Amino acid sequence: MAKTSTTKKVTRPASAGLADLLKQRLQTIYWAESELVSTLPQLKEQSNSQELQAAITEHIAQTQMHVTRLEEIFSALNEKADAVKCEGLQGILKEGAATVSQSEEGPVRDAAIIGACQLVEHYEIAAYGTLAAYAKVLNEKQVLDLLLKTLTEEKKSDQILSAIADTHLNASAVGEA
Ligand SMILES: [Fe+2]
Repeated sequence: MAKTSTTKKVTRPASAGLADLLKQRLQTIYWAESELVSTLPQLKEQSNSQELQAAITEHIAQTQMHVTRLEEIFSALNEKADAVKCEGLQGILKEGAATVSQSEEGPVRDAAIIGACQLVEHYEIAAYGTLAAYAKVLNEKQVLDLLLKTLTEEKKSDQILSAIADTHLNASAVGEA
């Protein structure tokens, strides 16, 4: 009567695996936020609307804050703030840059810039939402609070961009065609 052998892997609590995952995803978003600090000024330069320029200026300052907040998070976790290249965001930025450069200067290009920025925002909203869920399960309260602050700001930025697009940009882009 041979019993089915159940091979158990070396046991490590699931929380340790989740803590590793949290750290990995933090490293990736840390790269992404730092990359945005250097990329956003280029989008601002290419934009035509003063309202959009002001929104991007505000967003650059906020992104710098997000970088600093991530450093606080690493420190709260007793981890070194290491950046690991985020292939997902790099792809979004590359595609955004191509779309923007192919659009006619003026309202159409502004609409393309808003679209590129919103793709980034939605990536960040998903990333921070996931990180917050991990931090909650791991009972990392300080980390969770910091992540939720950033998540709220990302959502707000997305709404501001939608409002700019809705109020006049998309309409003027059509008018220009
Ligand atoms: Fe951000």
